[in-house]
Amino acid sequence: MAGDFWSKLLQARNHFLFFDDDEQKLLMDCERRGYVFQKHPFYGVRWAIDESQDVWCKEECEAWYKEIRLQFPWHTKVFSLVESTNDEAWRAFNSEQISCGIFIAERQSQGRGRRGREWDSASNGGIYFSMCVSVEKILLPISMLTLGVGVAIFDALKPWVQEGMTLKWPNDVLINQKKVCGVLTERQFSENSQGAVVIGVGLNVHQQEEDWRDELKEIATSLRAFAIPGKTIRRAEILAHIIKECETVFRLDADEVRNRWHQRCFDLGKWIRVKQETGAVAGQLIGIDKEGALILKNEIGAIVRVYSGDCVLS
Ligand code: BTN
Repeated sequence: MAGDFWSKLLQARNHFLFFDDDEQKLLMDCERRGYVFQKHPFYGVRWAIDESQDVWCKEECEAWYKEIRLQFPWHTKVFSLVESTNDEAWRAFNSEQISCGIFIAERQSQGRGRRGREWDSASNGGIYFSMCVSVEKILLPISMLTLGVGVAIFDALKPWVQEGMTLKWPNDVLINQKKVCGVLTERQFSENSQGAVVIGVGLNVHQQEEDWRDELKEIATSLRAFAIPGKTIRRAEILAHIIKECETVFRLDADEVRNRWHQRCFDLGKWIRVKQETGAVAGQLIGIDKEGALILKNEIGAIVRVYSGDCVLS
């Protein structure tokens, strides 16, 4: 019943539908959570998606998974506040043996980014989630996984973003040269299996200019700032599209991900600098290799491989 109700609700985005008495009770539950419906005495009910009420709800996420036909049996948990969704994913993997899970939070108090940095997720409006997957389910070499997930996110966001989107090594999705999304992949090995990965994704969705701390204003942006006018932004729908594209990428080989990454990185051929703890490396961006390392051609024409660091265009 509940599953049918949610599928029906997704259909009620586009036109008015009649809901019976039991369903009316579920509609009222939804209203209490912040959903907004248009009600008409003759035509029925229409879900008027209101972006200021973009609430998270596990059942809605699952309805989108069904709608766009996800393949894996994703187990989903939604939290209003956690320290980090990556920690929640590891907790579920280690204590509940959940090896195919999605852990979403409205806010994180200790969201973490790459290289020990903080990921600003204290306020709502973004998509902060972690995906826990056992390594057996992933054909792509794990060294290419973060890059592959970048490709997946790029493809998932395409229906919302007309232009200006690009990938930046190793884990950023940019729009007009500002960061809209970052990926943090963590791996755990275990004795009798290949272990699992937790892929944490932080995507800025509804944030506006005034929401950013001063130091982020110049470098961060949100999907809403560049979304196609009139296109509805519903986080659960975007999340489902990201997961679907990830399912595709998990089945690809390293060559295919490398090709796709190259097609979506518009800085190829440009002169870039990679800042590292020990200094910086500069060169013309040639691309990535099959292990996910960055390939640069330096000022004397030598090929240099870079395995970690932060890229900046020079
Ligand atoms: C980066 O660009 O440095 C990666 C940022 C990853 C942030 C996400 S938000 C959800 C998940 N939980 C975390 O603590 N971090 C990741």
